Amino acid sequence: MKLVRSKDDLRTLRRKWIFAGEKVAVVPTMGALHAGHLSLVEAAKKGADRVIVTIFVNPKQFNNPDDLDKYPRTEHEDAEKLAPYGVDALYVPTPDQIYPDGFATNVSVSGLTEDLEGAHRPGHFDGVATVVSKLFLQSRADVAFFGEKDYQQLLIVRRLSEDLDIETEVVGCPTVREADGLAMSSRNVQLGGEARAIAPALYRAMETAADAIRGGVAATVAIKQAKEEVLAAGYGEIEYLELRSAKDLRPLETPAEPARLLVAAMLDGVRLIDNIAV
Ligand code: PAF
Repeated sequence: MKLVRSKDDLRTLRRKWIFAGEKVAVVPTMGALHAGHLSLVEAAKKGADRVIVTIFVNPKQFNNPDDLDKYPRTEHEDAEKLAPYGVDALYVPTPDQIYPDGFATNVSVSGLTEDLEGAHRPGHFDGVATVVSKLFLQSRADVAFFGEKDYQQLLIVRRLSEDLDIETEVVGCPTVREADGLAMSSRNVQLGGEARAIAPALYRAMETAADAIRGGVAATVAIKQAKEEVLAAGYGEIEYLELRSAKDLRPLETPAEPARLLVAAMLDGVRLIDNIAV
């Protein structure tokens, strides 16, 4: 695995691969890799000849400076975790490779970004859309792999790639969970022992609500019940828990079309998000 820190070095590698007719995949990450990321790398290995993993903790997508400071940075451990996977390049750009002096462009996707995460994290999705556009263009990857855990992000990234005629196909991969159901996330390491024990209550409540909705219970009723369960378990605040269209995130009353239950909730000062198919 070649460690690459500049876009020029990445381009040189990429050119060689294009010349050899090889299909290139990119797995964009902010590091602090866990089994969820590694499942994306596995999918990338199956779907392409060459795999680039990127690690860049993108300041533009953090609306809260404290959150940015607390975000785990574990490049050395990340490289060790990737070693057995046959990744071709680990791209860890220095900040000037992404945001050089004078950088003045913002990629903003309308509609899909406006509520759920967008309503609670102003500017977050502009930061994501801008950095992902740059990573797609710098890597010129044929295909990119994203986790369904950030479901809204997945739809936004797919939209921007289509809208900007970027020739990178966006593939979504299932959320990977701990044995107790907690969705894998780089933020989970911030949970203290007691909070970690409470955390899976979120997924349990979502599963119960999804089963109830599938069985014909009104979404409003099932969601109210789920919120009560989550708060009773010890969560501090639920920012949203909603049934939305899986295609475009329109609010739904019933799962008359493929739907997702999406949630964001605070536990012990840590913001957790999750979603499941209904
Ligand atoms: O999901 C993430 O880790 C980030 O939002 C991404 C896609 C790498 C962009 O910084």
